[in-house]
Amino acid sequence: MNTFDYSYPVKVYFGEKAAANKLSGELSKVGKNVLLSCGGGSVKKNGIYEELMSILRAAGKNVTEFTGIMSNPTYAKVQEGAKLAKENKIDFILAVGGGSVIDCCKIVSAQARLDCDIWDMEFNDKKFPTEFIPMGAVVTAFGTGAEMNNGAVITNEDKKLKSALWGAFYSFAILDPVYTMTMPMGQVISGSFDALSHCMETYMGSPRDTNLSDEINEACQRNIIRNLRATLKDPKDIKARSELIWAAAMAENGILKIGKVTDFQAHMLEHQLGAYTDCNHGQGLAVIHPVLYRHMLPEAIPQFARLAVNVWNTDSTGKTEEQLASAFIEALSDFIKEIGLPTSFAGMNIPENTDYKAIAETTVLTGGCCKKFTAEELAEVLEECK
Ligand code: NZQ
Ligand code: ZN
Repeated sequence: MNTFDYSYPVKVYFGEKAAANKLSGELSKVGKNVLLSCGGGSVKKNGIYEELMSILRAAGKNVTEFTGIMSNPTYAKVQEGAKLAKENKIDFILAVGGGSVIDCCKIVSAQARLDCDIWDMEFNDKKFPTEFIPMGAVVTAFGTGAEMNNGAVITNEDKKLKSALWGAFYSFAILDPVYTMTMPMGQVISGSFDALSHCMETYMGSPRDTNLSDEINEACQRNIIRNLRATLKDPKDIKARSELIWAAAMAENGILKIGKVTDFQAHMLEHQLGAYTDCNHGQGLAVIHPVLYRHMLPEAIPQFARLAVNVWNTDSTGKTEEQLASAFIEALSDFIKEIGLPTSFAGMNIPENTDYKAIAETTVLTGGCCKKFTAEELAEVLEECK
Protein backbone atom coordinates (compact mmCIF):
# COMPACT_ATOMS: atom_id res chain seq x y z
CA MET A 1 0.00 0.00 0.00
CA ASN A 2 1.25 3.51 -0.83
CA THR A 3 1.63 6.23 1.80
CA PHE A 4 -1.62 8.15 2.29
CA ASP A 5 -3.47 10.92 4.15
CA TYR A 6 -7.19 10.33 4.59
CA SER A 7 -10.02 12.61 5.65
CA TYR A 8 -13.44 13.18 4.13
CA PRO A 9 -15.42 16.40 3.98
CA VAL A 10 -18.89 15.16 2.90
CA LYS A 11 -21.43 14.43 5.64
CA VAL A 12 -23.89 11.72 4.55
CA TYR A 13 -27.50 11.51 5.67
CA PHE A 14 -28.66 8.08 4.58
CA GLY A 15 -32.11 6.55 4.77
CA GLU A 16 -35.82 7.08 4.33
CA LYS A 17 -37.04 10.60 5.16
CA ALA A 18 -33.45 11.87 5.37
CA ALA A 19 -34.46 15.18 3.73
CA ALA A 20 -37.47 15.67 6.02
CA ASN A 21 -35.36 14.91 9.08
CA LYS A 22 -32.03 16.54 8.27
CA LEU A 23 -32.31 19.23 5.61
CA SER A 24 -33.70 22.03 7.77
CA GLY A 25 -30.80 21.59 10.22
CA GLU A 26 -28.32 22.05 7.37
CA LEU A 27 -30.26 25.01 5.93
CA SER A 28 -30.05 26.81 9.27
CA LYS A 29 -26.26 27.01 8.77
CA VAL A 30 -26.36 28.81 5.40
CA GLY A 31 -27.46 32.17 3.97
CA LYS A 32 -30.91 33.11 2.69
CA ASN A 33 -30.45 32.92 -1.08
CA VAL A 34 -30.63 29.36 -2.36
CA LEU A 35 -30.10 28.07 -5.91
CA LEU A 36 -32.35 25.02 -6.25
CA SER A 37 -30.85 23.06 -9.15
CA CYS A 38 -32.36 20.12 -10.97
CA GLY A 39 -32.52 18.27 -14.28
CA GLY A 40 -35.14 17.87 -16.97
CA GLY A 41 -38.24 17.57 -14.81
CA SER A 42 -38.32 14.14 -13.10
CA VAL A 43 -38.29 15.77 -9.64
CA LYS A 44 -41.40 17.77 -10.48
CA LYS A 45 -43.23 14.60 -11.58
CA ASN A 46 -42.30 12.42 -8.59
CA GLY A 47 -42.97 14.97 -5.83
CA ILE A 48 -39.36 15.44 -4.66
CA TYR A 49 -39.28 19.07 -5.85
CA GLU A 50 -42.43 19.95 -3.89
CA GLU A 51 -41.20 18.23 -0.74
CA LEU A 52 -37.87 20.09 -0.86
CA MET A 53 -39.56 23.40 -1.72
CA SER A 54 -41.74 23.15 1.36
CA ILE A 55 -38.65 22.56 3.53
CA LEU A 56 -36.93 25.55 1.89
CA ARG A 57 -40.02 27.75 2.38
CA ALA A 58 -40.33 26.71 6.03
CA ALA A 59 -36.66 27.68 6.48
CA GLY A 60 -37.46 31.15 5.08
CA LYS A 61 -35.16 30.87 2.05
CA ASN A 62 -35.35 32.95 -1.15
CA VAL A 63 -35.26 30.30 -3.86
CA THR A 64 -33.89 30.83 -7.37
CA GLU A 65 -34.44 27.86 -9.68
CA PHE A 66 -31.76 26.52 -12.01
CA THR A 67 -33.49 23.85 -14.09
CA GLY A 68 -32.93 21.79 -17.22
CA ILE A 69 -29.48 20.46 -16.37
CA MET A 70 -29.08 17.78 -19.01
CA SER A 71 -27.44 14.36 -18.84
CA ASN A 72 -23.76 14.87 -19.71
CA PRO A 73 -23.93 18.52 -18.57
CA THR A 74 -22.38 21.06 -20.89
CA TYR A 75 -19.97 23.84 -20.11
CA ALA A 76 -22.56 26.30 -21.46
CA LYS A 77 -24.99 25.05 -18.80
CA VAL A 78 -22.33 25.59 -16.13
CA GLN A 79 -21.95 29.20 -17.31
CA GLU A 80 -25.73 29.69 -17.25
CA GLY A 81 -25.84 28.48 -13.63
CA ALA A 82 -22.87 30.63 -12.59
CA LYS A 83 -24.52 33.72 -14.11
CA LEU A 84 -27.75 33.00 -12.22
CA ALA A 85 -25.80 32.47 -9.00
CA LYS A 86 -23.93 35.76 -9.40
CA GLU A 87 -27.01 37.78 -10.37
CA ASN A 88 -29.03 36.44 -7.44
CA LYS A 89 -26.21 36.65 -4.87
CA ILE A 90 -26.62 32.96 -4.10
CA ASP A 91 -25.40 31.82 -0.67
CA PHE A 92 -26.07 28.11 -1.03
CA ILE A 93 -26.69 25.60 -3.85
CA LEU A 94 -29.01 22.63 -3.38
CA ALA A 95 -28.36 20.15 -6.21
CA VAL A 96 -31.18 17.64 -6.68
CA GLY A 97 -30.62 14.84 -9.17
CA GLY A 98 -28.16 12.29 -10.45
CA GLY A 99 -24.51 12.69 -11.40
CA SER A 100 -25.25 15.29 -14.08
CA VAL A 101 -26.94 17.83 -11.80
CA ILE A 102 -24.52 17.12 -8.98
CA ASP A 103 -21.47 17.59 -11.23
CA CYS A 104 -22.77 20.70 -12.96
CA CYS A 105 -23.32 22.44 -9.62
CA LYS A 106 -19.79 21.69 -8.40
CA ILE A 107 -18.44 23.89 -11.18
CA VAL A 108 -21.22 26.49 -10.92
CA SER A 109 -20.22 26.88 -7.28
CA ALA A 110 -16.61 27.62 -8.26
CA GLN A 111 -17.24 29.64 -11.45
CA ALA A 112 -19.66 31.97 -9.63
CA ARG A 113 -16.81 33.04 -7.35
CA LEU A 114 -14.30 33.57 -10.19
CA ASP A 115 -13.78 36.41 -12.65
CA CYS A 116 -11.84 34.23 -15.08
CA ASP A 117 -12.99 31.25 -17.16
CA ILE A 118 -12.59 28.10 -15.04
CA TRP A 119 -11.85 25.81 -18.03
CA ASP A 120 -8.92 28.00 -19.12
CA MET A 121 -7.78 28.37 -15.52
CA GLU A 122 -7.67 24.62 -14.85
CA PHE A 123 -6.49 23.31 -18.22
CA ASN A 124 -4.24 26.14 -19.43
CA ASP A 125 -2.97 27.80 -16.23
CA LYS A 126 -3.11 24.56 -14.15
CA LYS A 127 -4.65 26.55 -11.29
CA PHE A 128 -7.59 25.28 -9.27
CA PRO A 129 -10.39 27.14 -7.51
CA THR A 130 -10.21 27.73 -3.78
CA GLU A 131 -13.45 29.62 -3.17
CA PHE A 132 -16.89 28.13 -3.59
CA ILE A 133 -20.55 28.71 -2.87
CA PRO A 134 -21.40 26.07 -0.24
CA MET A 135 -23.52 23.20 -1.53
CA GLY A 136 -25.67 20.25 -0.51
CA ALA A 137 -26.69 17.31 -2.72
CA VAL A 138 -29.95 15.37 -2.77
CA VAL A 139 -29.36 12.18 -4.74
CA THR A 140 -32.31 11.06 -6.90
CA ALA A 141 -30.35 8.71 -9.20
CA PHE A 142 -27.48 6.60 -7.88
CA GLY A 143 -24.45 5.22 -9.66
CA THR A 144 -21.83 7.88 -10.26
CA GLY A 145 -21.08 8.54 -6.58
CA ALA A 146 -20.60 12.15 -7.73
CA GLU A 147 -22.01 13.36 -4.41
CA MET A 148 -18.90 12.00 -2.71
CA ASN A 149 -16.12 13.68 -4.70
CA ASN A 150 -15.10 17.07 -6.11
CA GLY A 151 -14.51 16.02 -9.71
CA ALA A 152 -17.14 17.11 -12.22
CA VAL A 153 -17.38 15.59 -15.67
CA ILE A 154 -18.36 18.38 -18.04
CA THR A 155 -18.82 18.35 -21.82
CA ASN A 156 -17.21 21.30 -23.56
CA GLU A 157 -19.10 21.26 -26.84
CA ASP A 158 -16.89 23.87 -28.53
CA LYS A 159 -13.71 21.93 -27.76
CA LYS A 160 -15.31 18.47 -28.23
CA LEU A 161 -13.96 17.33 -24.87
CA LYS A 162 -15.70 15.64 -21.95
CA SER A 163 -13.33 16.12 -19.05
CA ALA A 164 -13.09 16.29 -15.30
CA LEU A 165 -12.92 19.77 -13.85
CA TRP A 166 -12.18 20.17 -10.14
CA GLY A 167 -14.75 21.98 -8.07
CA ALA A 168 -16.10 21.91 -4.55
CA PHE A 169 -17.00 19.03 -2.28
CA TYR A 170 -20.59 19.00 -1.09
CA SER A 171 -20.84 19.76 2.60
CA PHE A 172 -23.57 17.15 2.88
CA ALA A 173 -25.34 14.54 0.74
CA ILE A 174 -28.84 13.20 1.32
CA LEU A 175 -29.25 9.60 0.15
CA ASP A 176 -32.86 8.48 0.50
CA PRO A 177 -33.55 5.20 -1.32
CA VAL A 178 -37.23 6.15 -1.72
CA TYR A 179 -36.19 9.13 -3.85
CA THR A 180 -34.66 6.73 -6.37
CA MET A 181 -37.72 4.45 -6.73
CA THR A 182 -38.96 6.33 -9.81
CA MET A 183 -35.63 6.01 -11.69
CA PRO A 184 -36.21 4.35 -15.08
CA MET A 185 -34.96 0.76 -14.85
CA GLY A 186 -32.51 1.45 -17.68
CA GLN A 187 -30.89 4.12 -15.51
CA VAL A 188 -30.85 1.79 -12.46
CA ILE A 189 -28.93 -0.72 -14.59
CA SER A 190 -26.51 1.73 -16.19
CA GLY A 191 -25.93 3.52 -12.86
CA SER A 192 -25.20 0.23 -11.10
CA PHE A 193 -22.80 -0.79 -13.86
CA ASP A 194 -21.09 2.59 -13.54
CA ALA A 195 -20.55 1.91 -9.84
CA LEU A 196 -19.19 -1.57 -10.63
CA SER A 197 -16.89 0.03 -13.18
CA HIS A 198 -15.59 2.54 -10.61
CA CYS A 199 -14.70 -0.40 -8.37
CA MET A 200 -12.93 -2.27 -11.19
CA GLU A 201 -11.09 0.83 -12.39
CA THR A 202 -9.80 1.40 -8.88
CA TYR A 203 -8.90 -2.28 -8.43
CA MET A 204 -6.88 -2.30 -11.65
CA GLY A 205 -4.69 0.58 -10.45
CA SER A 206 -1.53 0.11 -8.45
CA PRO A 207 -0.21 -1.30 -6.17
CA ARG A 208 -1.65 -4.56 -7.46
CA ASP A 209 -0.73 -7.03 -4.74
CA THR A 210 -3.41 -7.97 -2.19
CA ASN A 211 -4.29 -5.03 0.06
CA LEU A 212 -7.15 -3.95 2.33
CA SER A 213 -8.55 -1.38 -0.13
CA ASP A 214 -8.89 -4.10 -2.80
CA GLU A 215 -10.45 -6.58 -0.39
CA ILE A 216 -13.13 -4.02 0.54
CA ASN A 217 -13.45 -3.31 -3.18
CA GLU A 218 -14.17 -6.98 -3.93
CA ALA A 219 -16.97 -6.90 -1.34
CA CYS A 220 -18.43 -3.80 -3.03
CA GLN A 221 -18.38 -5.51 -6.41
CA ARG A 222 -20.12 -8.63 -5.03
CA ASN A 223 -22.68 -6.37 -3.35
CA ILE A 224 -23.48 -4.46 -6.56
CA ILE A 225 -23.84 -7.64 -8.61
CA ARG A 226 -26.09 -9.32 -6.02
CA ASN A 227 -28.29 -6.28 -5.36
CA LEU A 228 -28.69 -5.34 -9.01
CA ARG A 229 -29.93 -8.89 -9.67
CA ALA A 230 -32.34 -8.54 -6.71
CA THR A 231 -33.56 -5.15 -7.99
CA LEU A 232 -34.17 -6.52 -11.47
CA LYS A 233 -36.20 -9.35 -9.93
CA ASP A 234 -38.18 -6.96 -7.74
CA PRO A 235 -37.85 -3.26 -8.59
CA LYS A 236 -39.66 -2.41 -5.33
CA ASP A 237 -37.02 -4.18 -3.18
CA ILE A 238 -36.00 -1.18 -1.09
CA LYS A 239 -33.36 -3.14 0.82
CA ALA A 240 -31.51 -4.09 -2.37
CA ARG A 241 -31.78 -0.54 -3.67
CA SER A 242 -30.48 0.89 -0.39
CA GLU A 243 -27.44 -1.35 -0.71
CA LEU A 244 -26.87 -0.22 -4.30
CA ILE A 245 -27.01 3.46 -3.37
CA TRP A 246 -24.45 3.05 -0.63
CA ALA A 247 -22.24 0.76 -2.70
CA ALA A 248 -22.18 3.42 -5.45
CA ALA A 249 -21.21 6.05 -2.88
CA MET A 250 -18.56 3.73 -1.40
CA ALA A 251 -17.00 3.34 -4.83
CA GLU A 252 -16.33 7.08 -4.97
CA ASN A 253 -15.90 8.14 -1.33
CA GLY A 254 -12.18 7.55 -1.34
CA ILE A 255 -12.10 4.42 0.83
CA LEU A 256 -11.41 2.01 -2.05
CA LYS A 257 -8.74 4.38 -3.35
CA ILE A 258 -6.77 4.56 -0.10
CA GLY A 259 -3.12 3.81 -0.81
CA LYS A 260 -3.76 3.32 -4.53
CA VAL A 261 -3.13 5.06 -7.85
CA THR A 262 -6.28 4.34 -9.85
CA ASP A 263 -6.58 3.20 -13.46
CA PHE A 264 -9.77 4.70 -15.05
CA GLN A 265 -8.68 4.09 -18.67
CA ALA A 266 -12.16 2.75 -19.57
CA HIS A 267 -13.66 5.92 -18.14
CA MET A 268 -11.35 8.25 -20.06
CA LEU A 269 -12.27 6.48 -23.28
CA GLU A 270 -16.00 6.52 -22.50
CA HIS A 271 -15.92 10.21 -21.60
CA GLN A 272 -14.49 11.08 -25.02
CA LEU A 273 -17.05 8.80 -26.66
CA GLY A 274 -19.60 10.91 -24.77
CA ALA A 275 -18.06 14.14 -26.06
CA TYR A 276 -18.65 12.95 -29.63
CA THR A 277 -21.97 11.11 -29.20
CA ASP A 278 -23.66 12.34 -25.97
CA CYS A 279 -24.19 8.67 -25.08
CA ASN A 280 -25.33 7.20 -21.76
CA HIS A 281 -22.29 6.84 -19.49
CA GLY A 282 -23.03 3.39 -17.97
CA GLN A 283 -23.95 1.93 -21.36
CA GLY A 284 -20.75 3.19 -22.94
CA LEU A 285 -18.73 1.61 -20.14
CA ALA A 286 -20.54 -1.70 -20.55
CA VAL A 287 -19.52 -1.92 -24.21
CA ILE A 288 -15.95 -0.75 -23.65
CA HIS A 289 -14.99 -2.75 -20.55
CA PRO A 290 -14.80 -6.33 -21.92
CA VAL A 291 -13.04 -5.22 -25.12
CA LEU A 292 -10.52 -3.07 -23.24
CA TYR A 293 -9.93 -5.89 -20.75
CA ARG A 294 -9.17 -8.36 -23.56
CA HIS A 295 -6.43 -5.94 -24.62
CA MET A 296 -5.22 -5.64 -21.01
CA LEU A 297 -5.30 -9.39 -20.34
CA PRO A 298 -1.58 -10.26 -20.74
CA GLU A 299 -0.59 -7.52 -18.28
CA ALA A 300 -3.42 -8.06 -15.79
CA ILE A 301 -3.51 -11.82 -15.24
CA PRO A 302 -3.13 -11.90 -11.41
CA GLN A 303 -5.78 -9.21 -10.82
CA PHE A 304 -8.27 -10.65 -13.30
CA ALA A 305 -7.76 -14.14 -11.84
CA ARG A 306 -8.42 -12.81 -8.32
CA LEU A 307 -11.61 -11.12 -9.50
CA ALA A 308 -12.76 -14.37 -11.16
CA VAL A 309 -12.51 -16.25 -7.88
CA ASN A 310 -13.30 -13.58 -5.27
CA VAL A 311 -16.05 -11.69 -7.10
CA TRP A 312 -17.47 -14.00 -9.77
CA ASN A 313 -17.23 -17.30 -7.82
CA THR A 314 -15.33 -19.09 -10.57
CA ASP A 315 -14.24 -22.55 -9.45
CA SER A 316 -10.45 -22.45 -9.56
CA THR A 317 -9.98 -26.23 -9.39
CA GLY A 318 -7.61 -27.40 -12.10
CA LYS A 319 -7.41 -23.96 -13.74
CA THR A 320 -4.28 -21.96 -14.47
CA GLU A 321 -4.08 -18.29 -13.54
CA GLU A 322 -4.40 -17.43 -17.26
CA GLN A 323 -7.59 -19.49 -17.56
CA LEU A 324 -9.06 -17.82 -14.50
CA ALA A 325 -8.21 -14.36 -15.87
CA SER A 326 -10.05 -15.16 -19.11
CA ALA A 327 -12.95 -16.55 -17.08
CA PHE A 328 -13.28 -13.16 -15.35
CA ILE A 329 -13.70 -11.35 -18.67
CA GLU A 330 -16.26 -13.93 -19.81
CA ALA A 331 -18.19 -13.65 -16.50
CA LEU A 332 -18.25 -9.86 -16.84
CA SER A 333 -19.45 -10.07 -20.47
CA ASP A 334 -22.16 -12.58 -19.54
CA PHE A 335 -23.34 -10.31 -16.73
CA ILE A 336 -23.58 -7.34 -19.11
CA LYS A 337 -25.83 -9.44 -21.38
CA GLU A 338 -27.82 -10.81 -18.42
CA ILE A 339 -28.72 -7.33 -17.11
CA GLY A 340 -29.67 -6.10 -20.58
CA LEU A 341 -26.89 -3.59 -21.23
CA PRO A 342 -25.70 -3.15 -24.82
CA THR A 343 -22.71 -5.12 -26.05
CA SER A 344 -21.83 -2.94 -29.05
CA PHE A 345 -21.95 0.71 -30.08
CA ALA A 346 -24.53 -0.28 -32.70
CA GLY A 347 -26.69 -1.51 -29.82
CA MET A 348 -26.45 2.00 -28.33
CA ASN A 349 -27.51 3.55 -31.67
CA ILE A 350 -24.17 5.28 -32.06
CA PRO A 351 -23.89 6.39 -35.70
CA GLU A 352 -21.64 4.26 -37.91
CA ASN A 353 -19.71 7.29 -39.16
CA THR A 354 -18.53 8.31 -35.66
CA ASP A 355 -14.91 9.49 -35.79
CA TYR A 356 -13.35 6.83 -33.52
CA LYS A 357 -9.83 7.84 -34.48
CA ALA A 358 -10.46 11.38 -33.22
CA ILE A 359 -12.02 10.00 -30.03
CA ALA A 360 -8.97 7.81 -29.37
CA GLU A 361 -6.55 10.64 -30.13
CA THR A 362 -8.28 12.98 -27.67
CA THR A 363 -8.60 10.40 -24.88
CA VAL A 364 -6.45 10.94 -21.80
CA LEU A 365 -3.98 8.05 -21.44
CA THR A 366 -4.00 7.13 -17.75
CA GLY A 367 -0.88 6.37 -15.77
CA GLY A 368 -2.32 4.04 -13.12
CA CYS A 369 -3.30 1.24 -15.46
CA CYS A 370 -1.28 -1.96 -15.57
CA LYS A 371 -1.14 -1.61 -19.35
CA LYS A 372 0.05 1.63 -20.91
CA PHE A 373 -2.26 2.11 -23.88
CA THR A 374 -1.43 4.16 -26.94
CA ALA A 375 -3.96 6.22 -28.89
CA GLU A 376 -3.58 3.69 -31.77
CA GLU A 377 -4.53 0.78 -29.54
CA LEU A 378 -7.48 2.69 -28.07
CA ALA A 379 -8.67 3.29 -31.65
CA GLU A 380 -8.50 -0.49 -32.19
CA VAL A 381 -10.53 -1.01 -29.01
CA LEU A 382 -13.19 1.40 -30.26
CA GLU A 383 -13.30 -0.30 -33.68
CA GLU A 384 -13.84 -3.65 -31.93
CA CYS A 385 -16.71 -2.12 -29.92
CA LYS A 386 -18.64 -1.14 -33.09
O1 NZQ B 1 -33.14 15.14 -15.85
P1 NZQ B 1 -34.21 14.45 -15.11
O2 NZQ B 1 -35.58 14.75 -15.62
O3 NZQ B 1 -34.11 14.63 -13.62
O4 NZQ B 1 -34.05 12.87 -15.42
C1 NZQ B 1 -32.88 12.15 -15.08
C2 NZQ B 1 -32.04 11.80 -16.31
O5 NZQ B 1 -32.84 11.70 -17.44
C3 NZQ B 1 -33.29 10.80 -14.58
N1 NZQ B 1 -33.60 10.76 -13.15
C4 NZQ B 1 -32.78 11.08 -12.12
N2 NZQ B 1 -33.39 10.82 -10.96
C5 NZQ B 1 -34.62 10.33 -11.26
C6 NZQ B 1 -34.76 10.30 -12.65
N3 NZQ B 1 -35.88 9.87 -13.27
C7 NZQ B 1 -36.90 9.47 -12.48
N4 NZQ B 1 -36.83 9.44 -11.12
C8 NZQ B 1 -35.70 9.85 -10.48
N5 NZQ B 1 -35.63 9.77 -9.13
O6 NZQ B 1 -32.17 9.98 -14.81
C9 NZQ B 1 -31.53 10.40 -16.02
C10 NZQ B 1 -30.04 10.31 -15.87
O7 NZQ B 1 -29.56 11.22 -14.91
P2 NZQ B 1 -28.02 11.62 -14.89
O8 NZQ B 1 -27.80 12.49 -13.72
O9 NZQ B 1 -27.61 12.12 -16.23
O10 NZQ B 1 -27.33 10.17 -14.71
P3 NZQ B 1 -26.05 9.74 -13.92
O11 NZQ B 1 -26.32 9.79 -12.46
O12 NZQ B 1 -25.66 8.46 -14.51
O13 NZQ B 1 -24.96 10.87 -14.25
C11 NZQ B 1 -24.23 10.83 -15.46
C12 NZQ B 1 -23.19 11.93 -15.51
O14 NZQ B 1 -22.25 11.80 -14.42
C13 NZQ B 1 -20.91 11.72 -14.96
C14 NZQ B 1 -21.14 11.06 -16.30
O15 NZQ B 1 -20.04 11.21 -17.17
C15 NZQ B 1 -22.37 11.82 -16.78
O16 NZQ B 1 -22.02 13.07 -17.27
N6 NZQ B 1 -20.03 11.02 -14.01
C16 NZQ B 1 -19.65 11.68 -12.90
C17 NZQ B 1 -18.76 11.12 -12.00
C18 NZQ B 1 -18.26 11.83 -10.81
N7 NZQ B 1 -18.42 13.11 -10.69
O17 NZQ B 1 -17.69 11.23 -9.92
C19 NZQ B 1 -18.21 9.79 -12.16
C20 NZQ B 1 -18.77 9.03 -13.30
O18 NZQ B 1 -17.75 8.17 -13.78
C21 NZQ B 1 -19.35 9.80 -14.41
O19 NZQ B 1 -18.38 10.13 -15.38
ZN1 ZN C 1 -18.43 6.39 -14.10
